[in-house]
Amino acid sequence: MMKIKFELNNKEYVFNEDPSKRLLDILRNNFSLTGIKEGCGEGECGACAVLINGELINSCLVPLANVHNKKIMTIEGLSETKRGKLIKDSFSKAGAVQCGFCTPGMMMATEALLNKTAHPTVDEIKIGLSGNLCRCTGYNMIIEAVLLASKEGEGLW
Ligand code: FES
Ligand code: FES
Repeated sequence: MMKIKFELNNKEYVFNEDPSKRLLDILRNNFSLTGIKEGCGEGECGACAVLINGELINSCLVPLANVHNKKIMTIEGLSETKRGKLIKDSFSKAGAVQCGFCTPGMMMATEALLNKTAHPTVDEIKIGLSGNLCRCTGYNMIIEAVLLASKEGEGLW
């Protein structure tokens, strides 16, 4: 057991736990943050993506010890923000959500991308979302959603 301190969706926590546990399991099981999904469990699909200190990270690969003194944001936290709401609307308007399994991870990747590049090109979007797999949409509608968020969110990023 180890005392781990972190900020999760803008709240501070001190958490006594086995530091080798996966962040994905802690978030889903201890904090009921079930927007994060487990797809591959091997860092390949992006369904479990969160932001750690603003960087897009697959939480299935992160031991709890690695988030000590860091800031974590999940889809639940992002959805409370103006930018998160706008990304969600853009995904919905562009028809980028089908089964929805990849959507939380895609939205996290969109936030991370727009934070770095407020007006990305299609190629930059493809690179930004390259760690996130979608079995349903063929990606074009997701790219449209990111372009829409970038346009309608002028000034937010
Ligand atoms: S479940 Fe983490 S990358 Fe697939
Ligand atoms: S919408 Fe089904 S996996 Fe992307």
